[in-house]
Amino acid sequence: MKLQSTTYLFLLFFFLLQVTPIESYCKSIEKQIETSQPEVLTPASKPQPRINGPLVYGCRPGHPFLYRIPCQGERPIRFSAKGLPSELKLDSSTGIISGTVPVKGEFEIIIQAKNSKGKDKRSFKIIAGDKIALTPPMGWNSWYAHYDRITDEMTREAADLMISSGMADVGYTYVNIDDCWSNAITYKKDPKRIGPPRDDQGNILPNFYFPDMNGLTDYIHSKGLKAGIYTSPSNITCTGFTGAYGHEEQDTRQFAAWGFDFLKYDWCSYSKMPGVDESLESLQKPFRQIGSALKSIDRDIVYNICQSWDAGEAPKWGAEVGAHTWRTGQDLGLELDKIFEVAINNSKYREYSKPGEWNDPDYIQIGWIGNARKLGAPELTSMPASKQYAFMSMWSLMAAPIFYSGDLSRLDEFTLNILCNPEVIEVNQDQLGESGLVIKKSEGSFLMVKNLIDGSKAVGLFNPGKSAANMEVDWKELHISGKYLVRDLWRQKDLSKCSDKFTIEVPAEGVVMVKISKH
Ligand code: GLA
Repeated sequence: MKLQSTTYLFLLFFFLLQVTPIESYCKSIEKQIETSQPEVLTPASKPQPRINGPLVYGCRPGHPFLYRIPCQGERPIRFSAKGLPSELKLDSSTGIISGTVPVKGEFEIIIQAKNSKGKDKRSFKIIAGDKIALTPPMGWNSWYAHYDRITDEMTREAADLMISSGMADVGYTYVNIDDCWSNAITYKKDPKRIGPPRDDQGNILPNFYFPDMNGLTDYIHSKGLKAGIYTSPSNITCTGFTGAYGHEEQDTRQFAAWGFDFLKYDWCSYSKMPGVDESLESLQKPFRQIGSALKSIDRDIVYNICQSWDAGEAPKWGAEVGAHTWRTGQDLGLELDKIFEVAINNSKYREYSKPGEWNDPDYIQIGWIGNARKLGAPELTSMPASKQYAFMSMWSLMAAPIFYSGDLSRLDEFTLNILCNPEVIEVNQDQLGESGLVIKKSEGSFLMVKNLIDGSKAVGLFNPGKSAANMEVDWKELHISGKYLVRDLWRQKDLSKCSDKFTIEVPAEGVVMVKISKH
């Protein structure tokens, strides 16, 4: 069939429309789709493999190694790796690399993932040395979902769900039990959580709901995931369960022997312990004690400290006492209405953010979460959709540890779209480890600008106001000049090539998160 010349012209026009960037974002204001309704912005993952996760991974020589290659795409996928040291083995069907970390050094690996629809390749550098957590740790924490209801069964289920939901395929790794796993002396709400704190040798005892800690971590590890545990330097934790007081080294050894890979150490009521005062030395003492104990243990354990928030400013000394991440504020569950303020406060400590050393503004609380004041059963969040995008964007731009603390068994499409956008997570996992610089704009709005390893910049345009606002990023603010490509990271879509500025409408209490790069 012969096509008319008008049809050719029409096709040519249509083609040009597809390839020509829309310059208007650079000059005038384009309306973005409102996100006050739960609109899913993250494009669905494709059937062909897409390898996600960090480009660098730190581990310590002689210790057990475990890494599940985060990869989206239709299973079965066959994984292969070039350059893997002989001490490490890759399971080609699960993508789990395990073994023992070889000698100190850097290993440049090329990972490949292949299925019937296509393949993906990616470089991955294993750095065996003193440092771990070279990119912000990612995972799940039981606290805001299950509080004092957490059990072994729920933790195993969380591991299953981390895999089946696809979260592990974008980098979520740690399955962390928070408070309430040990015994309490008295606990009216649940007598089954009452029991002896320790055995005759002083070993800490898990409560009725955790009958087999080794079995639990084995289960988590069998999926290529890692396990986390919680305690306090006080004799009791914040909720009244046995803490580590007087048994610090012994408990640390026990956690390692049980197979845990992450430890949260929470100040709680430690101020009441004998001899504790408000001096910096006193504030640091318990954290330093565990920090040193962890150094002599034959296991890589990420160490998260949760200090007395208003005292001591842990970002300034967290790394010195051996921690990899430290809280920068009080419990976020008690001030979820203030996430913009909490983020701005966290970013005050941006100079302390670097590979292996992370500011922790607490967990991502969206989807089904329980009221933190009442330790309530999970309910669907009332946080506006646009604010949830802003939440995840700020945490990514601040290189914060990304821990989802909500009910994994009730993940819906919208919540998963917030948690699992690989381009947004890539910003979080960037090798430089920089926490974004806050640039204040008019009426409470602000930018967060994060330099990335490839020379590009991730920028969040945040509008905490109650109505949509036009916002601008001026190249002068970014210290760049010339033509740059602006890509919308949530929509995974190139917007325009701009020469001096970028202007866009940002939804109320929301964000537009872009990557500004040469290509
Ligand atoms: C403190 C911590 C929380 C949580 C609870 C558990 O409040 O800040 O993150 O661990 O204790 O009791």
